Amino acid sequence: MDISFRLNGQDARARIDDPTETLLDWLRTERGLTGTKEGCNEGDCGACSVVVTGSDGVPRALNACILFLPQLVGKAVRTVEGLSAPDGTLHPIQQEMIAEHGSQCGFCTPGFVTTLAAAHARGDTDHVDQIAGNLCRCTGYAPILRAAAKAAKAPVPDHLRDPPLRCSENMPGEREGAGPLAPTSSDVLADLYLDDPEATLIAGATDVGLWVTKQFRDLGTVIFLDRCADLRGVEVAADHIRIGAMTDMETLRHAIAPHHPSFAELLRRYGSVQVRNAATVGGNIANGSPIGDSPPALIALGAQLHLRQGARRRTIPLETFFRAYGSQDRDPGEFVEAVTIPRQRDALHCHKISKRFDQDISAVCAAYNLPLQDGVITGARIAFGGMAGTPKRAPSVEALLEGQAPSEELFETAAEALAQDFTPLSDMRASADYRLEAARGTLMATYHRMTGGASVNVLDVRP
Ligand SMILES: Cc1cc2nc3c(=O)[nH]c(=O)nc-3n(C[C@H](O)[C@H](O)[C@H](O)COP(=O)(O)OP(=O)(O)OC[C@H]3O[C@@H](n4cnc5c(N)ncnc54)[C@H](O)[C@@H]3O)c2cc1C
Ligand code: FES
Ligand code: FES
Repeated sequence: MDISFRLNGQDARARIDDPTETLLDWLRTERGLTGTKEGCNEGDCGACSVVVTGSDGVPRALNACILFLPQLVGKAVRTVEGLSAPDGTLHPIQQEMIAEHGSQCGFCTPGFVTTLAAAHARGDTDHVDQIAGNLCRCTGYAPILRAAAKAAKAPVPDHLRDPPLRCSENMPGEREGAGPLAPTSSDVLADLYLDDPEATLIAGATDVGLWVTKQFRDLGTVIFLDRCADLRGVEVAADHIRIGAMTDMETLRHAIAPHHPSFAELLRRYGSVQVRNAATVGGNIANGSPIGDSPPALIALGAQLHLRQGARRRTIPLETFFRAYGSQDRDPGEFVEAVTIPRQRDALHCHKISKRFDQDISAVCAAYNLPLQDGVITGARIAFGGMAGTPKRAPSVEALLEGQAPSEELFETAAEALAQDFTPLSDMRASADYRLEAARGTLMATYHRMTGGASVNVLDVRP
């Protein structure tokens, strides 16, 4: 079976013998486009970054090493070879990288250039965030940031305006013999998955990609959710916000910012822009990870999880989905359709503790929803990641804070009660003692944020 998409402005076809062949492998081995580099092969270094434009016409940087070919149906891909104009004129970011001496060994350079070209095309000038997922070992970031800032003043080259794409129908949406499945709606997905509950669902592939590139797993039947447009997007209604399972983290970050800015700030530190452009809310919940960043914030906001199995739908509080480490309340053939949070006055404070500020998994992730009514905390909801085998609420701490006016003594007492709610583990990210101590720190930082006391945002104390 073949799929088609656009590659560097031309129609391209790829034969799908293995639905988990990555774009990176295909580019390098089938097309000889070796400008796209393989560094880590797990989404961490950005050397394999390419620009992908979907049906919404927005160019995004993605890591080709954990992007499977069937995820590209009907999209447009630009590699570093496709950035300069047909007459050889360099892209503004390429030109400025030369002028600013932004490259030494050059191994990382194609990834920086493609990532920054995607940002340039969107008009994003938050360059520090944009390149947080691109590692450079020799040049240093200052010249690269200078190049990005100078290039931002130049217009987007005409040849990069890929024409709108008509979504190709050349992948089976329904079962038509062997091959990957790419349903075009959640109704079709529901039928397919009920028929074959052993199939592996693939959303953004930021977990599943690594099962293939690092664990060399044969996934058997796979179902790609990418084309289920009805699972994508954030709807803001009068009394709730509904987040479709296929909503990527970068979209969620922007959509949630006006409602819960601290959640958006947490998501800014979720992986890198390439990871956020791929990773979905549904995947971040369904994988049942105890260290996923979105579940603590969603639980603290009182999220409801919408699950679907065939025609049967059910809704449960998100926290009850996580039963124990590696065990979730999900039946065979059941998938995550959406999550909803009630509209509420913002009182959310999120904290992410990780070894590295950007592009790192949390050792501890804390989310405090502490609304104040007449000066007392009313309706406290607190949830942590990294403190137990699942994302989990802190009932003792909630009970201590509920109905009380915030004071330093109260929060210090509540911080001690964290040990009643959690017995964290030691692992490569942090020791149990560190986790408990860091969690206590987040509670005190929340107190200072609520009362406008000492500055607790790490960005405020940058030199
Ligand atoms: C470099 C890197 C950095 C990362 N940084 C972070 C980080 O900072 N914070 C963080 O929380 N995570 C991080 N992750 C982990 C990863 O991004 C998340 O776990 C992600 O949310 C998975 O979502 P996905 O859409 O990519 O899921 P996939 O990899 O496609 O799927 C993950 C699992 O969920 C299942 N699944 C997906 N969608 C559904 C659905 N709708 N219904 C039922 N099952 C479904 C799949 O079958 C699979 O079992 C990082 C990963 C990488 C590679
Ligand atoms: S090779 Fe490192 S992110 Fe893809
Ligand atoms: S120029 Fe050598 S790794 Fe960046």
